[in-house]
Amino acid sequence: MSRLALYPGSFDPLTNGHLDVIARAGRLFDRVVVAVLINPAKQPWFTAPERVAMIREACAGLAVDVETFDGLLAELARRRQATAVVRGLRGASDFDAERQMAQMNRHLHPDLETVFLLPAPEVGHISSTLIKEIVTLGGSVAGLVPRAIEARLHERREGVGTRHV
Ligand code: PNS
Repeated sequence: MSRLALYPGSFDPLTNGHLDVIARAGRLFDRVVVAVLINPAKQPWFTAPERVAMIREACAGLAVDVETFDGLLAELARRRQATAVVRGLRGASDFDAERQMAQMNRHLHPDLETVFLLPAPEVGHISSTLIKEIVTLGGSVAGLVPRAIEARLHERREGVGTRHV
C-alpha cells in the first residue's frame, strides 16, 4: 500500500524551514502532497496559484505534488486516502496549537495520524510571518527562503508598499 502524506499550510510564502520538512517527509512516505490552504478570511501576500507555482519551482526535482485546498483538511485526507498529515514543530510555542489541531483532526478522521517533524536547527527560527515582517522593514531574508521567492517578496513589497503582516 502506497503511503501518502499531506503537508498542509498557508505557505505565504514557502520558507527554507518548510523545504526542510518536505525533504524529511519525502524520506518517510511514498508520496508527499503539499496542500496550500485557500483561506478567504486571510489577506495573503501571494494568491493561492502564485504560492503553488513558487512551491513547485522550489520543489523541482523532489517527488512532491502541490495543490490547493479549501474546507476541512480531514475531508481532503479522506478524498486523497492520506495516511498522515505532516506538520513541522519548531519549538514549545508551536506545540499547543498543533496538538489541538491534531486532536481535532483525529476527532474528524480517526484513522488519520499527524506526524510532527523537527526541522534542522539552522532553519528552526524561520516563519513566514517573520519573513514578511523583515521584508516589509527593508531587511534581508537571504538564506531563509529560496532565491526565487526572495526576489518575489521584494517585488511584492515594492508593489504593495508597507503593509501589515
Ligand atoms: O501554515 P498554517 O497557517 O499554520 O497552516 C494551518 C492549516 C492550513 C494546517 C490549518 O489552518 C488547516 O488545516 N486548515 C484547514 C481547515 C480545517 O481543517 N480546520 C480544522 C482543523 S482542526
